[in-house]
Amino acid sequence: MRIAVVGSGTMGHGIAEVASISGMEVKLIDISWDILNRAKQRMEESLKRLYDRGTIKESPEQVMRRIEMSTSYEVAKEVDFAIEAVPEILDLKRKVFEQLDKITPRDAVLATNTSSIPISDIGEITSRKERVIGMHFFNPPPLMKLVEVIPSKYTTEEVTNFTVDLAKKMGKVPVRLKVEVPGFVSNRIFLRLLQEACREVESGEATVEEVDSAARNKLKLPMGIFELADYVGLDVVVDLWKVIVGRGAKDVSCSSYNKKVESKELGVKAGKGFYSYQAPGKYSKVPLPQDSRVPPERVISLAVNEGAWLMENGIVNAEEIDTVMKLGFNFPKGLMEIADELGIDSIVSQLKDIYSKGYDAYMPNPLLLKMVSSNQLGKSTGRGFYVHNT
Ligand code: 3HC
Repeated sequence: MRIAVVGSGTMGHGIAEVASISGMEVKLIDISWDILNRAKQRMEESLKRLYDRGTIKESPEQVMRRIEMSTSYEVAKEVDFAIEAVPEILDLKRKVFEQLDKITPRDAVLATNTSSIPISDIGEITSRKERVIGMHFFNPPPLMKLVEVIPSKYTTEEVTNFTVDLAKKMGKVPVRLKVEVPGFVSNRIFLRLLQEACREVESGEATVEEVDSAARNKLKLPMGIFELADYVGLDVVVDLWKVIVGRGAKDVSCSSYNKKVESKELGVKAGKGFYSYQAPGKYSKVPLPQDSRVPPERVISLAVNEGAWLMENGIVNAEEIDTVMKLGFNFPKGLMEIADELGIDSIVSQLKDIYSKGYDAYMPNPLLLKMVSSNQLGKSTGRGFYVHNT
């Protein structure tokens, strides 16, 4: 299997690394050798960590030998599959797809790792929109097991199955969306966590550290919400936010992320975001206070509301949402499982409280209201998103 990866930044270099680990021949394309050399260094560092831990058997040198880097699309002339991971700018992505459409064999599948842009909008620029698909990896790709597979309204079943198989060959667990929605499952839920975190801070309810302490110490998430935003990149956060609310999701007023981007504090990659890091690109767990005023059900309330929306619209079920959150974000339990534990009634009362303060996006989803009125409150009543043995 020969695969081209266009864009060698945070996600692109990780995807190239994962593809090569699974034995594929990889062509990694970017616009300059400076960027490519940085990607090479990051892949070597990551492979060394995986090798030292015994996760991979081949040496980093052997894995790197299957990756050819280039500033020209010519290397993609004979690939079976190409995936794009350039910044979240529709015009830029379309330019990449025009190039790939011209250079790759007619039957090659073209995928995008976009975090939020509808796949149809990208595929339409090519002469093979039925062979264009979304294949969404998570940061860091070598560690995160999840891949969202998003067929556009044009994608054929054969191409979707091919991409699902490819994800499995890369050692990943694919979750296939039935219908494409901006932000897919992962980033629609991530956006809601980001929005509530921001609302809490900007309304003076809590500090950044208190929100993150509630996420890490009460909900047992691997990172706080602002810490994760720093890790993903605040420019990426702002981009995915714009795309999702720009295509109809209700917004929550928030300026914190934009302000950080304006002052070039982009998070881990810049060495500074909401927190400071030892050096650009060097993440280490941020220190947080043990206690926090923030109730855990408040932190996840808007995200659970979004989960209910995804279920109501037939996009995924509760188990699929939970797979996304466990394998894409390393949640120790699924979001809907956590909601069942904390109580659907507590989630709804948080939503109602925040909604009453004038935040429209928090209007409780009818599915949650129905669950409360029929006593499906989660673990406490034996039935919520899941059935529980009491
Ligand atoms: N390659 C290889 N190994 C790596 C690595 C990489 N890129 N990054 C970390 N590791 C290894 C470390 O070497 C360490 O190994 P060890 O246990 O043998 O020492 C291990 O992973 C743990 O790393 P750290 O000690 O540095 O720190 P943590 O224990 O906090 O783990 C983490 C880091 C795995 C990133 C964890 O914090 C986590 O799971 N965070 C959540 C990440 C997440 O949610 N990602 C999704 C973001 S959203 C997204 O990508 C979608 C997009 O569209 C926006």
